[in-house]
Amino acid sequence: MFPIDQFQSLHTPFYYYDIALLRHTLETVVTESGKYPNYHVHYAIKANHDPKLLSIIASHGLGADCVSGGEIACAIQAGIPSHQIVYAGVGKSDAEIALALEHEIGCFNVESLAELRVINEIAEKMHRQARVAFRVNPDVDAHTHEKITTGLSENKFGISLAHLSQAVEEAKQLSAVTLVGLHFHIGSQIEQMHVFQTLCERINTIVSQLTDQGIALQSINVGGGLGVDYRHPLDHPLPDFAKYFHTFHSHLRLPQGTEIHFELGRSIICQCGHLISRVLYVKEGEAKKFVILDAGMNDLIRPAMYGARHHITHLTASHDAATETYDIVGPICESSDIFAIAQQFPHTRRGDLLAIHSAGAYGQSMASCYNSRPLAPAVYSEV
Ligand code: LLP
Repeated sequence: MFPIDQFQSLHTPFYYYDIALLRHTLETVVTESGKYPNYHVHYAIKANHDPKLLSIIASHGLGADCVSGGEIACAIQAGIPSHQIVYAGVGKSDAEIALALEHEIGCFNVESLAELRVINEIAEKMHRQARVAFRVNPDVDAHTHEKITTGLSENKFGISLAHLSQAVEEAKQLSAVTLVGLHFHIGSQIEQMHVFQTLCERINTIVSQLTDQGIALQSINVGGGLGVDYRHPLDHPLPDFAKYFHTFHSHLRLPQGTEIHFELGRSIICQCGHLISRVLYVKEGEAKKFVILDAGMNDLIRPAMYGARHHITHLTASHDAATETYDIVGPICESSDIFAIAQQFPHTRRGDLLAIHSAGAYGQSMASCYNSRPLAPAVYSEV
């Protein structure tokens, strides 16, 4: 599966992207979402903004979900039409708002009344009309890691349900904004479909209350969050997109013709990316053995930040190698720079190559130069 000979000649660490898997994932997303009228999928650029990967994603017709002016620029550069760009974020700067208006993006996902007023003011000055959706906190528990859950009521994200009516009334008064819909995003790495079902039910209630108030909406954006299999990434490289889209189809009860927008990041890009690293040392401690890699938390911060566990495979072990127990760690001067604890692994030596899987999402995009280390480059399975 991996071109080990090629890897041997490359400087490590690097991110390796399996382009065939990315294409297959995208084709599945397009087929499964295409079964339902009015479904629009945006790729959440924050998961990975690599230009080559973005242009492949753009070529499959996906829109973009952006959270900064930089991401809007990346989306446009990759060829994503600006009307397919949605823009979220609790802290949009004036310059970013102006950039989005200049490009006439599809929709601002507005997170507060204060932001709505500023968008209106800037749009008025620029003689533009801003299409906006309110991001609403539906108070649905995503049952995921506390640091990646966002839909509970008291949260820095979005407008609480209690303030929604007031926000809608205010939007009607503002001349340079047009309210087109609502936006929801309850969290990331959601593995249980019933969570999305609960979200649908909550959306139905909110939309029907607004309809009763005489407010018609063109679009509902349900956010992202579909989880992937970090435990068995090689056996299950694709999440169940069919079931995911079908869940929304079965449970959303919206007026006919309402557009449904999705913002998928991890589920699209996670499994095609692997962090390839070389073993620098095998250290024999008193009770433990440590495999010390040349990749660290600056390259992939998820284990240190969220306690995330990524499946790791040994790429160069001999077939008859005995199994040992190792902690697999990075070289950074932080005790949280650990990729695996007590991992059963083939006997490992200096110079061996390892693959840390499921690294395509929030891997390279969250990398830093901490400890003055260079950023790990990207290598692709196809040029
Ligand atoms: N839409 C909004 C408004 C979001 O905030 C996010 C992710 C997404 C869509 C895409 O969610 P996805 O489909 O990728 O789950 N760094 C963390 C994940 C942070 C997610 C932030 N928001 C991690 O490595 O697990």
